[in-house]
Amino acid sequence: MDLHILDHRLRVTSISKNGLVNFTHPLIKLIFLRNRTRCKFFSLTETPENYTVVLDEEGFKELRPSEHLQVESAIWLPLNVVSNGSASSSSQAVGVTKIAKSVIAPLAQQHVSVFMLSTYQTDFILVKEKDLSVVVSTLEEEFNIYKEEGGESVPVHCQDVSNAIQPTVHPVLIPKNQFCVMSLDPDTLPSIATTLIDVLFYSSRFPADLLFTSSSGELWRMVRIGGQPLGFDECGIVAQISQPLADSDISAYYISTFSFDHALVPEEDIVSVTDMLQHQRNEPAT
Ligand code: ARG
Repeated sequence: MDLHILDHRLRVTSISKNGLVNFTHPLIKLIFLRNRTRCKFFSLTETPENYTVVLDEEGFKELRPSEHLQVESAIWLPLNVVSNGSASSSSQAVGVTKIAKSVIAPLAQQHVSVFMLSTYQTDFILVKEKDLSVVVSTLEEEFNIYKEEGGESVPVHCQDVSNAIQPTVHPVLIPKNQFCVMSLDPDTLPSIATTLIDVLFYSSRFPADLLFTSSSGELWRMVRIGGQPLGFDECGIVAQISQPLADSDISAYYISTFSFDHALVPEEDIVSVTDMLQHQRNEPAT
């Protein structure tokens, strides 16, 4: 298996709910008018608390400082696992479940805080730039590690570092909403731009007829992790959720936001996931 350290230096920011109007111009540019910026990594997640925007330094330049914009101090680097076909995994599970044991758990053990961004296609594991040497030394046993530099993949190696702590078990919340995970061809973006602008900036509902264009029609339920905002320094939060999911071979997308973490699991598994987490809360992880 290969692990790629992508050539993006990312910032994790949040825009307050009522501050969104101050950012419509840069956001429209970043989302819809891609050729007008040099931004190459952009992610926007709306939650009831705020909008989380993760973007590279080029994109970050588009966001003006404001009382409505919170910026996490670290530079984050996205890691991406690429299976090169040789993987002998019997699991059909998708998302963070696939990398729970090989990436998430070892990083948590080495006290590395991560920020997860699952997408339809792949799962990005963001780590702080300052933790890179620990990350490389932790994962180089399991992976061939490459750093992408100007379109080239350069192999990396590292020296050893180590430490360990006991994770805190955070409360979870399981809303009734159903979620749909899909991807769309960037070329089709112009044709649905007005709909997306309506959804994003005018609180319209996502139209049902757009929902199943490119997914299997499968529905997902959410587990929100955290009672108080989770911050950015603690490690092991993704691990304590993704480990038991991997043990039960349950697919999961995992999306960290500025305040909380969110795991999406298949609707039919929500009962067993709820039981599993309940159990974990009664008998904190070892
Ligand atoms: N750092 C956590 C971990 O390593 C995950 C991110 C939690 N923080 C957040 N703001 N969402 O498991």
